[in-house]
Amino acid sequence: MLSPKEFIDDAVKKIKDEINDEKAVIALSGGVDSSVCSVLVGESIGDNLTAIFVNHGLLRKGEAEQVINTFKERLNFIYVDASDEFLEALRGVTDPEEKRKIIGKKFIDVFEREASKIDAKYLIQGTIAPDWIETKGKIKSHHNIALPSGMVLEVVEPIRELYKDEVREIGSELGLPDEIIHRQPFPGPGLAVRVIGELTRDKIQICQEADAIVREEVEKAEFDKELWQYFAALTNTKVTGVKGDQRDFGYLVVVRMVASFDAMTAYVPEVPWELIRTISRRITSEISEVTHVSLSISDKPPSTIEFA
Ligand code: XMP
Repeated sequence: MLSPKEFIDDAVKKIKDEINDEKAVIALSGGVDSSVCSVLVGESIGDNLTAIFVNHGLLRKGEAEQVINTFKERLNFIYVDASDEFLEALRGVTDPEEKRKIIGKKFIDVFEREASKIDAKYLIQGTIAPDWIETKGKIKSHHNIALPSGMVLEVVEPIRELYKDEVREIGSELGLPDEIIHRQPFPGPGLAVRVIGELTRDKIQICQEADAIVREEVEKAEFDKELWQYFAALTNTKVTGVKGDQRDFGYLVVVRMVASFDAMTAYVPEVPWELIRTISRRITSEISEVTHVSLSISDKPPSTIEFA
């Protein structure tokens, strides 16, 4: 078993030998796997790696800024704000699987558009061991990938043999900040799976604000250590409330906090009452469009962790 430092020295050398003086691209999401991969390959081939960060407009509050600030000095980094394009493609779509498909396809389009400006031969992917073990090794370790335009890239997966805790150790050794290393899992389609019904800028923003309150309070109470994921989802249901002395008709927000080992199953632990109460009061007083907050108490199965 190599130490993190030995793994890094070894990987940097191997990547250099493999890629040589060619160019490589990576889709950097700010998640721990793609972040560690980007920095590792950046240490190895410098500016011959271009890290492309696509903002689909469905990120959490402050997330785009955090990713930009972490990587803009450290990597040859391209930021693409494609939120208008994604929202346009998602207009009127309510079915969750349809949303996922549109986002997946759009993501490839946008990434490819940026990647085609670089004469890259390699695509770096942050695949880790559970990704291919769970698909029973269906993804071959050496393969090419053909993008829709016909552009063919050779795939390099520098952290393919690692498990999540090892990726975190490597990230720490590489000097990545804690917010990246210990970030809770966040789905690729982002808030599209947490905002029920049609996605609009307003609804996304309400979900972002509520989610930021959940994260802030859970972390302040140090309850995050007990949880796999903790977030807010915005339902498409409006309920009556009173604000001031006026009757109000606003959104129902659901707070979900789950404990899990691998997301295959999950349970809702006993949550400190004071924490829930603070979250609920803050959401209804700070977000004018919300009149009601409820707590999800369903385990997986039968519920899934996400709402859509
Ligand atoms: P569910 O909701 O199926 O989620 O219990 C299990 C884990 O997977 C994440 N998740 C996704 N991740 N694309 C992703 O990259 C998706 O479409 C997606 N859907 C769910 C979820 O956050 C949880 O950790």
